[in-house]
Amino acid sequence: MTKNEIIEQLNEDRTAALFGEADRVRRLHCGNAVHLRGLIEFSNCCGRDCLYCGLRRSNRELKRYRMSVEEVFAAAQAAAKIGYQSVVLQSGENDQYPLFDLCGLIARIKSELKVAVTLSLGEKTREEYAALKDAGADRYLLRFETSSEKLFRALKPDSSYDERLRCLRWLGELGYQVGSGIMVGLPGQTMEMIADDILLMKELDLDMVGIGPFIANPCTPLKDAASGTLELTLKTLAIIRIVTRNTHIPATTAMGSIDPKGRQKALQCGANVLMPNVTPTRYRSLYQLYPNKICISDAPADCAGCIAGMVASLDRTIATGPGHSLKRN
Ligand code: 5AD
Ligand code: FES
Repeated sequence: MTKNEIIEQLNEDRTAALFGEADRVRRLHCGNAVHLRGLIEFSNCCGRDCLYCGLRRSNRELKRYRMSVEEVFAAAQAAAKIGYQSVVLQSGENDQYPLFDLCGLIARIKSELKVAVTLSLGEKTREEYAALKDAGADRYLLRFETSSEKLFRALKPDSSYDERLRCLRWLGELGYQVGSGIMVGLPGQTMEMIADDILLMKELDLDMVGIGPFIANPCTPLKDAASGTLELTLKTLAIIRIVTRNTHIPATTAMGSIDPKGRQKALQCGANVLMPNVTPTRYRSLYQLYPNKICISDAPADCAGCIAGMVASLDRTIATGPGHSLKRN
C-alpha cells in the first residue's frame, strides 16, 4: 500500500473489507494458532519522564517495586508450568539491575526452563544488548512510539528519536528477533504520521509489531488529553498486518482495557499473539502505565483460563512451540 492508500484506509469508516483482508492475510502467513507470551512486569521503577506513561519518574503517586532476580525466576517458572513457552521480561527504562544479574537470570531461565526469552527494558548500550544476547535472550521489544521526530521530542523529553532507532538497528545486528511499535491516538498524532509509522515498520523489517491505543493517565501531564479509540487502533493493526504480512502481532492489554472485547476484535483483524500477564498478583496494580488496566486482580492461572476460553471461542488454537519469528526459518 502507498502512503496515500494507507491514509485513505485510516479515514474510512466502513472497515469490513479491510478487516476481512487482514484476517485473510493473517491466516495465510501465520495460520490459525495463537502464540502466548507470558508477561512479567518485574519493576515499575523508571528513569525517564515520558509524558504519557504512569511509570514516569515524576509520578510520585505510584508506589515503586522491584522484584528480586529470584522472584522473576519463580514467575518465569510459573509461566513455564502453565505451558507458556515464551516469556517477556519487562520493566521501566534505565532501571538499575546490574547487567551481571540480568545475564545470570536469562541464562538460568534458558537452561532450566527452555522457554524463549524476550526482553523489554528500553534503551541500552550496544555492549549491554550484546551481553544480554550472549546470555541467551532471543528477542527484544522496543517501540519507537511515533515516527514523527517532533511528536517524539514533545512526548519523550529525555530521549532521542535517533538514539531509539539506533538501538533498533543494533538489536537487529546482534541477532535478536526485534519488535517495535507505536501508540495510536497520541495527542497531536495525525493520520499522516500513522501512515509514516506503518511504512517505517515495514522498512525496519520487524519480526514483531506491538500497538495499542494511547490511554490518558490521570497521574501524568496528559491527563486531560483524549485517549485513542479502539476503531482507529484496529484499522492501524489491520493495515500493519496487510503491509508486513508475517510479523507476530499481539492483541494487546491496552486494547482489552479500553473495550472488554478489544483483544477478541484484534485477533479477528490481524493479530496472532496474546500476552497473558504472569506478574505476581501483588505487584500487578502497581504496573500502571495507564488507568483501568485489565487483569489487575487476577493470578497467572486465571489469565491462562480466560485466554484459553477466548482463543477457543474464536475457533482458533493455541500454538505449540516457542513461536519464533516467521521471517527467519
Ligand atoms: N497508554 C497506552 N500505552 C502506553 N504505554 C505507555 N504508556 C501508555 C499509555 N498511557 C505503552 C508504550 C510502551 C509500552 C510498554 O506501553 O507504548 O512502549
Ligand atoms: Fe487476565 Fe483474562 S487475560 S483474566
